Amino acid sequence: MAASPGSGRIWWTPCAGWPDPRVEAPPPLRSFGRIRSRTLKPRQASLLDTLLPSLRPPAEGPVDPAGLWPAAAETWLEVGFGGGEHMAAQAARHPDVLILGAEPFVNGVASALRHVDDLGLSNVRIHDGDVRDLMSRLPDASLRRMFVLFPDPWPKLRHHKRRLLSPAFVAEAARLLGPAGRLRLATDWAAYADVMLAVVLADGRFDWPVQCAADWREPPADHSPTRYEAKRLGDCAPVWLDFIRRPA
Ligand SMILES: C[S@@+](CC[C@H](N)C(=O)[O-])C[C@H]1O[C@@H](n2cnc3c(N)ncnc32)[C@H](O)[C@@H]1O
Repeated sequence: MAASPGSGRIWWTPCAGWPDPRVEAPPPLRSFGRIRSRTLKPRQASLLDTLLPSLRPPAEGPVDPAGLWPAAAETWLEVGFGGGEHMAAQAARHPDVLILGAEPFVNGVASALRHVDDLGLSNVRIHDGDVRDLMSRLPDASLRRMFVLFPDPWPKLRHHKRRLLSPAFVAEAARLLGPAGRLRLATDWAAYADVMLAVVLADGRFDWPVQCAADWREPPADHSPTRYEAKRLGDCAPVWLDFIRRPA
């Protein structure tokens, strides 16, 4: 039995009732809530019309990161970037890295575009939709890093099936991350932290190289705070789970 970084409770069995992603591929349920809220500010609305079209990966067919930005030393993916603060901060810090971001929430996309525009970032591309559509069109081992920071917790039992972190999602992340590729998950919901850890380890293709509790309790040194994280809406302090993809 292993220690639990979230609730401290006994390990939850991750896959009960879940289909094996390598055998079945049911259509994914919607994992996000509303896709639009308050009225957009004029500048944000304008950026959706002028900047977003130039940052979108192709809407259909295979997506080759090298074709999106040939100068890239490597490609990272941020899943559900919310307002885009973290994505923009990482892109500014790593100008040689192509950062793909996916987010269906229009107000979040508009906010991210403002960051991209303000910082003059040329290394960000935005898929304004479900990340699973983008992931399915990326080649094997095409990503070096993936971030899934504070995914929607769907805390009610009847909504758990909407959670993004499922065996199928982790299997797809394992396909996309090359050897030694890194997957970072974060949540401030204790039970979800337990599920995340269990589901990723159950996949069998990731190592979780932790030495002590500080490794999941302290924000990683290269983390940049997100808007959702600052709200502290969960039932525990943020839990940080950094995994490394094993060689095939
Ligand atoms: C709780 S918010 C956190 C946002 C951001 N990561 C942060 O920490 O501020 C979760 C985000 O994931 C997005 N999301 C949910 N399902 C998604 C999916 N299938 N593809 C892309 N984004 C998704 C939601 O729209 C929402 O903006």
